[in-house]
This record gives sequence, structure tokens and C-alpha cells, in this order.
Amino acid sequence: MPDILISNEGPVRKVRINRPEKKNALTLAMYEAMAAAIADAGNADSVKCLMIAGAPDVFCAGNDLTDFIAMARSGGLGEPIIRFLHTLAQCEKPIVAAVSGAAVGVGATMLLHCDQVIASENAVLLTPFVSLGLLPEAGSSLIAPRLMGHARAFSLLVMGKPLTAEEAKSAGIINAVVPASELETHALNVAREIAALPPESVTAARRLMRGSVEEVIARIDEEAEVFKTRLASPEAQKALAAFLNRKR
Ligand code: COA
Repeated sequence: MPDILISNEGPVRKVRINRPEKKNALTLAMYEAMAAAIADAGNADSVKCLMIAGAPDVFCAGNDLTDFIAMARSGGLGEPIIRFLHTLAQCEKPIVAAVSGAAVGVGATMLLHCDQVIASENAVLLTPFVSLGLLPEAGSSLIAPRLMGHARAFSLLVMGKPLTAEEAKSAGIINAVVPASELETHALNVAREIAALPPESVTAARRLMRGSVEEVIARIDEEAEVFKTRLASPEAQKALAAFLNRKR
């Protein structure tokens, strides 16, 4: 089965992260597939809303850490990552996320680009960027402080404090917390509700509410430049190797 599953349910395009054996950690091929599905949805008149989902026990464990080690050696940051982040920020169609279990790293920061986030009671947002010797990405250094205030964003993005579903709801990142068994139906109903609204009006309202896309893209690029340097740093190398060599 592919690591990214794409399906259309009426006017809703579902993008499901499906690599459960690696806790839905994202490889370059997965970023590429997600970016293509989102970009294509943007051009398809039949698609009125996107829905991003994961597995019942994990939404997404963030970037594949083995890939991070390879990228540090090559000195680059995979093009598909940047393409995915740009596509997400530039997407003109509304996005609903259904989050169950852990949303780590980019698994958490991609939620900041969504318009509605529905989470199950076991959901937890975790961004251990700095403890990995890295720094927040996906425009989160810009969007998170605006959304939740600097102090709460600092706890999440710099101190790596986990946010439970209820805390993320109070912080304005999550709309609703529902039992795990109801998550997908609830999120799909929200997506269908949005899809039934006049699409041009949704696009116009959303565009104004989201502010300058150029500013977000510029921040994604700025973060990515520093991220490359951080990946190659001894701090990051040590932390990444420790995760991959950990004894369980
Ligand atoms: N990259 C690569 N592999 C990953 C991964 C990642 N981001 N996250 C999990 N995996 C792999 C593990 O190495 C393990 O592989 P193995 O079975 O071949 O040894 C498998 O997925 C299961 O992971 P495990 O840690 O045993 O599951 P868990 O349920 O105990 O914990 C997480 C789940 C998500 C909390 C934990 O895996 C984790 O913290 N992952 C790293 C997240 C991270 O730091 N992401 C980058 C942020 S910038």
C-alpha cells in the first residue's frame, strides 16, 4: 500500500498519511505525493475542501530522522520538503485535519496551515525541534506566536513541551476534541460542511483571513536556510544519532 493514500469523497479530497510501521514519519517521496495531491486539488473544480488524516495511533511522527541524517551529510534540505511547505501555504482550498495520537515536528506545524483541526482525545502535539538541535519550521516561528501568543508558542516550539488535545484547543490550534471512534466521521462532516458553502466566497474570506502568503513563504525559506546549517551541527548530529541508536 502507498505511504500516502489519496481519495475523493464527493467534494472532499482526503490525503492520508499511511506509514504506520514508522509512525507515519515523512520521507521525501511522501512529501512529494502530498504536495502533488494538494496542488492538484487546487486546480480541480470538483474538489472544494481537503482533509488530511493519519493513523489511529499516530497522526505523523514528523520528518523521517534517517533522512535528516542523510540531508545533513549532503548539506541540503530535500526539495520535496520545501515544495510541500510552499504548496501548503499557497493552497487556496480550505483544509481540515483529523488528528489522532502524536503529531510531532512537521506533523504538528502543518496543522497551523489548516482551517479546521479536529482531534481525538489521545492527540498530542509535540515539536522537539530545539532538543534535536534544530529549529521550528513550516512557517511556525511566524504563525504560532500570532495564534497562541509568544509565551505559549515558546513553550511548544522552543521548550518542546507537549500540548494535549485540550490544551491545543485552548491555544486555538484545535477546534474540537472528540472520541477516537468519532474522529474521521466528525472531520469529514466538517469538510463536507465547508464544501457545501459558496466556494468563491470561501476562497475570498479565507484569503483575507490568512494574510500575506508571501510573508509566510519568506519565513518558510528563512527557517529552511537556518535549518540546513543546524542539521549539520554537532548538536543535531548527536541528537539524531541518539534517537536512531536508542535501546528499547
Ligand atoms: N523517523 C524515522 N523513524 C521513526 C520516526 C521518525 N521521525 N519516528 C518513529 N520512527 C520509527 C522508529 O525508529 C521505530 O522504527 P523500528 O521499529 O524500525 O525501530 C518505529 O518508527 C516505531 O517507533 P517507536 O518510537 O518505537 O514508537 P512509539 O510509539 O514508542 O513512539 C513517537 C512514537 C512518535 C512518540 C516516537 O517514535 C518519536 O518520538 N519519534 C521521533 C519523532 C521526532 O523527533 N520527529 C522529528 C521532529 S523534528
